[in-house]
Amino acid sequence: MIVCYFTATGNCLYIARRIGGTLLPIPQLLRQDRIEVCDDAVGIIAPVYAGEMPMMVRDFFGKVNIKTNYFFFLYTYGMACGEAFAHVKQLCDEKGLKLSYINSVQMVDNYLPGFEMQKQIDTLPKKDVEGQIARIIRDIEVRAEASVKITPAVKAKMAMLRKMLANRILRRDTAKSYIVNDQCIRCGICAKVCPANNITVTDNGISFADRCEVCYACLHNCPQNAIHMHEEQSTIRFRNEHISLNDIIAANE
Ligand SMILES: Cc1cc2nc3c(=O)[nH]c(=O)nc-3n(C[C@H](O)[C@H](O)[C@H](O)COP(=O)(O)O)c2cc1C
Repeated sequence: MIVCYFTATGNCLYIARRIGGTLLPIPQLLRQDRIEVCDDAVGIIAPVYAGEMPMMVRDFFGKVNIKTNYFFFLYTYGMACGEAFAHVKQLCDEKGLKLSYINSVQMVDNYLPGFEMQKQIDTLPKKDVEGQIARIIRDIEVRAEASVKITPAVKAKMAMLRKMLANRILRRDTAKSYIVNDQCIRCGICAKVCPANNITVTDNGISFADRCEVCYACLHNCPQNAIHMHEEQSTIRFRNEHISLNDIIAANE
């Protein structure tokens, strides 16, 4: 089994590790000219962003050639998936790829403009993440089937959500407005955890280009907590408790 994943704060990497198989980070796969993924089972694990998937995962979907008898897609999310399942089905239909199974795991919501991180972290016991994962592992082991139907009503909701949410939130120039305070020691960790290679560290400080994924890996993983945004609800940061900073660097560098 091969599992391709995208992660900023470790939730998706943790799920990928629990599901098992050969784990391949999507930011690194995207650097290949041709991406072929072939195995008896192939999965993608990604966070829900603004009711859909991260831009980079959408790009990956467009580029990858998947050959398998069992293709599954898992989301991690914090509050609500919107029509994210339907987006996967639509992309699969466009590729002529059968979506065998889709599911999601509710975890900590790392969306800084929406949530106080400590309050989100405190919701974890209620979410029973391990119980959710155990059910999905069982499903994948027996090659269970679970897909989605795109009705005209779902199509209309997808278009509305894209207009109201995704087009507003998922903007590649987002990082330009981040504030780097004087706690920054120019260690370069932000550049290493950035999946989009969007950050440059010089003697004069940190600069952001126009390839931001809006994943907040730089904000959440800065060891000095030196990167902020005007809209953030708190200065507390999050990384999945089972995942280290080095794991995020290895996935995204
Ligand atoms: C820009 C952005 C948008 C997000 N949008 C949603 C959303 O629409 N619904 C939701 O439930 N969670 C949303 N989230 C939360 C993430 O999906 C969630 O925290 C995910 O588990 C993070 O995975 P990771 O730790 O592997 O990066 C969003 C996070 C970010 C950074």
